[in-house]
Formats: sequence, structure tokens, C-alpha cells
Amino acid sequence: MDASKKTRPNMVITVDGPSGSGKSSISKKAAQDLGYNFLDTGAMYRSITWFCLQENLVAEDEIIQKLERDIFQLKITINPDEESVIVNDVDVTKIIREDVITSQVSKFSAFAGVRKYLVRLQRELVSRSNTGIVVEGRDIGSVVLPDAPCKIFITATDAIRAQRRARQTNTDSYEVLVSQRNRDKLDSTRTVSPLVVPKGAIILDNTNLDFDQSVAQFLEIVKAAKDE
Ligand code: DC
Repeated sequence: MDASKKTRPNMVITVDGPSGSGKSSISKKAAQDLGYNFLDTGAMYRSITWFCLQENLVAEDEIIQKLERDIFQLKITINPDEESVIVNDVDVTKIIREDVITSQVSKFSAFAGVRKYLVRLQRELVSRSNTGIVVEGRDIGSVVLPDAPCKIFITATDAIRAQRRARQTNTDSYEVLVSQRNRDKLDSTRTVSPLVVPKGAIILDNTNLDFDQSVAQFLEIVKAAKDE
């Protein structure tokens, strides 16, 4: 083992990938197994979306003005055993998962000013982590933490991803496939920080893997990165 890596204070693992790849639940379980913190950056974009819908904000400059004036206060836990997202003293943990947010979030997360604001917050949260941390999103290994020692890109075919989401939400898998393709397209073609496989990332394709097998592969990738 390289001695310089032994002294590195905290392991940082970035996880990116398309929607429905299971990356949130896989990386959260892996963080729990590793005793690490966990940051779900999608929840941060969902929180801003909730805030904009509440405040009837549509234009980018209007949103940025509010963010700059500290009118949006976000408290998000990085403890993987305690999911909690608070915006301006309102507990939005559950509401940000609702369809109304899911269908609007790509629009707000495409704004450069929104991304700049959240990327700064994400880096701050990571630097304050007192232990290793798994950070999950769409641009984590490419933009937020490009120097992270371990980068993972979790994916699966879009048909499988849609099937899984449909099962979870009790909806028609064709409907999910159509809206998911739409979201994937918006996320990977936007000008600012599109979804890409980050340089140096290991691809974990879980099309033919179940949850436990995916977590096991994830942990193997982390182990190999630690041993390097
Ligand atoms: O992972 P999720 O479905 O909760 O993410 C919600 C949305 O936020 C998704 O449409 C993509 C966007 N997102 C992003 O643009 N960048 C991130 N780092 C995380 C999420």
C-alpha cells in the first residue's frame, strides 16, 4: 500500500449515474456498511425545486437573487441512518420525492446559477465530514469533486431502470420509461454539467445484478481504490 494514501484524512467516493439505476439506495447502503457519511445531492436540487414552486419563481435571475440573499436556507443531514431535509424550517424530506417535484427538477437543475450555488454547498458539506463520505448525484466525479480517489458510475439499461421504478411506485413501466428517457435526455444534454461518465470512474452496470450484488460490487471497487 502507498504510505501517503494511508494518511489521507477522509475517503471520498463519488457516485454518478442516470435515474433509476438504484444509485441512491446502493450508495447509501454501502456508506452504512463502511461507516461513512452519505450526501444525496439530488435531494438538494429537489429542495430548490420545491422552494421555487412554493415561491412561484420561474426566471433564473429571480431565483439566483433569492439564493444570494440567503432567503433559501437548506439543512441536509449527511448521516446515512437519518434522512432529513429542511428548507427554511419546513421539513421537506418526503415532499421532495413527490411526482410534482420529480417532473420539474430537471428544469431548475439546468440553471448555471443554481448549480454553482449547490456545488459550493456540496463541497462545504464534504469538507466538514468527520469521516469518509459517499457523495451521490450526476456531476459529482466530473465537476463537484473531480480529484476524489474513488469514482463510481452506476448504470443499467433504461428498460430495467424503468421496470424497477415502476415496481417501486406502482405505476405502468411504459409510462415510467417515457418520462425517464425524457429526464435522462434533459440531464445529459444540458449545457452546464451534463451527466457524463467522469474521468477515471469505474462503471458498475447492474442490469443483471440484484441489490445485494450491486452493493457487494460497490464495496469491492472501494476496497480496490483504498488498496491502490
Ligand atoms: O437523483 P435524483 O432523481 O433525486 O435527482 C433529481 C434531479 O436532480 C435529477 O433530474 C437530476 C438532478 N441532479 C443534478 O442535476 N445533479 C446532481 N448532482 C444531482 C441531481
